[in-house]
Amino acid sequence: MGTGATIALIKGDGIGVDVAEAACEVAVAACAAVAAPALGFDEIRAGAGYFAETGQDIEPGGEERAGEADAIFLGAIGLPAIRHADGTEISPHLRLRDRFGLYAGVRPVRAYPNAPQRLADPRAAEIDMVILRESTEGLFYSAAAHGRAQVIGDAEVRETLRITRATTEKLHRFGFKLAEARRARGKRARLTCVDKANVFTSMAFFRNIFNEIAAQHPETEVGYNYVDAQALDLVRQPWEFDILVMENMFGDILSDLAGGLVGGMGMAACGEIGDRTGLFQPAHGSAPDIMGQDKANPLAAILSAALMLDYLADKTGEPRYGQAAARIDDAVAQGFAANRLRPMEFGGDMGTRAVTRAVVEGLNP
Ligand SMILES: NC(=O)c1ccc[n+]([C@@H]2O[C@H](COP(=O)([O-])OP(=O)(O)OC[C@H]3O[C@@H](n4cnc5c(N)ncnc54)[C@H](O)[C@@H]3O)[C@@H](O)[C@H]2O)c1
Repeated sequence: MGTGATIALIKGDGIGVDVAEAACEVAVAACAAVAAPALGFDEIRAGAGYFAETGQDIEPGGEERAGEADAIFLGAIGLPAIRHADGTEISPHLRLRDRFGLYAGVRPVRAYPNAPQRLADPRAAEIDMVILRESTEGLFYSAAAHGRAQVIGDAEVRETLRITRATTEKLHRFGFKLAEARRARGKRARLTCVDKANVFTSMAFFRNIFNEIAAQHPETEVGYNYVDAQALDLVRQPWEFDILVMENMFGDILSDLAGGLVGGMGMAACGEIGDRTGLFQPAHGSAPDIMGQDKANPLAAILSAALMLDYLADKTGEPRYGQAAARIDDAVAQGFAANRLRPMEFGGDMGTRAVTRAVVEGLNP
């Protein structure tokens, strides 16, 4: 066993605490199942509850410690009743994205048997794709938090969509690497560039850089789709797609659409990866309406932990973390197939604890 990777753990607020604990329990058990070096955790207090207690949104030195770990795992942050004086919510995690340049937003979208399926076509059972969303620039360069919008009195507002060569090259390289990793797991590995290159110079630039990187990866099948046609195709034939790479705002919208095809927020896993570190969290929030009731579906957090272990395998060169990730993915897929996973979120009888136990039991088939 040896010294394993360290995780900066921010449980946060509401169900974030429960699902983060569930995900850590599963990650620790998965590492043990494949004899991977044990994970170490550095818990950092942050969030709305912490703010109400202390007047700070993250403990002193917390951001620095987060950057020193091999990866960051976050439950959820924010409670609508606790706000700053200007009315905005407590959100230290958004600073982490900027601070660490977490450009590659990875959002897997996969249909599981016995989980809700919104399309009647039986091929919807084959949906297994990843939305790769650039997460630091694009139209979000102008997001209100950055104060970059050009406000011309009460008459007009202009926002800036920014595409840089440096970030776009890194994003597309990441996409081709992801395609290789998926091919190694027996998946189709086709990378589709989603843009609006027919209309916008910035998007033609985005596609040109995609083509430059694609030329270095002749083994990977590539495709192109304009974002409007992609929205149509996500409803008409989502099973045809594997990895979709796109600008920030397009990814924001299409990842929700894609997530809606295969269930609810409790399945939406997310990794945000930069050059130095990665932050992994379920895409959902703190769900105050169900907190403290053992009703939350922990699978989005658990699948985010699998993304984190894959990332750690790559970062530390320890292949057993990759095997641990595969164990988690298989335990979830097989758990649904055998109807051993029945989250309350989908009308089932299993709360957070019961789902977590069933995944842990499924790690050693
Ligand atoms: N990244 C984050 O930490 C993050 C993301 C979104 C929202 N938030 C914060 O969370 C708080 C609540 O926001 P919201 O209500 O808009 O979004 P939410 O995602 O917390 O909840 C939306 C709905 O989905 C349900 N839901 C969410 N996760 C679920 C799960 N795992 N299992 C079962 N049901 C689940 C909730 O019960 C609720 O009905 C706010 O303070 C918001 O700012 C944080």
